[in-house]
Amino acid sequence: MNQDELKKAAALAALAEIEEGSIVGVGTGSTVNHFIDGLAGMRDRIRGAVSSSEASSRRLADHGIPLVTLDDIDHIPVYVDGADEIDHGFCMIKGGGGALTREKIVAAVARRFVCICDASKLVDTLGRFPLPVEVIPMARAQVMRELTAFGGTPKLREGFVTDNGNLIIDVHGLAIDDPKGLETRLNQIVGIVTNGLFAHRGADVLLLARADGVTRLA
Ligand code: A5P
Repeated sequence: MNQDELKKAAALAALAEIEEGSIVGVGTGSTVNHFIDGLAGMRDRIRGAVSSSEASSRRLADHGIPLVTLDDIDHIPVYVDGADEIDHGFCMIKGGGGALTREKIVAAVARRFVCICDASKLVDTLGRFPLPVEVIPMARAQVMRELTAFGGTPKLREGFVTDNGNLIIDVHGLAIDDPKGLETRLNQIVGIVTNGLFAHRGADVLLLARADGVTRLA
């Protein structure tokens, strides 16, 4: 199985986590795209979806799945999303696709976060994947100076603008041995909208796809 086939296997396994008649939280990325395509097959058994990006919204709409906003509800039972890295405590780095802020918002109202990944995403220590940070444009230079003080090497994601009109800075070279602590400290930097550490609100369930099948870890 290649990596995309593994992503698809994890994504389709997540369909079993969806409650009949519920509103489903939907993440962003190539793994989630497979999930959305699978969700189309049970479109008549859900009430709709809360999306974490314009890209996922378009794909959901193309499948005729109704979109619901967070103004209409106060929680969702399940949020399904991928990750760029996940550790054994289910803390994650997310935002490789730049959708981290809306992903964190939708995850915050979910009772359960179901992470769907191929096995390459499972790591002992987060940080080999550069940590994405969404930044208000006018704060770019100041935020980069602050991030350098954390011991990382910040690089602007050239030519990329988020769905919220902001920039992404990818921080390379961080060894993240305290994900919750770093998430908290990065949240203190003025000008950062969201950092891509999902540690305080990590995953509850990990559906991990390997060549011999999908394992459900919780
Ligand atoms: C999107 O901003 C990300 O958080 C994705 O969930 C993450 O990058 C995983 O993406 P893939 O499923 O494409 O690997």
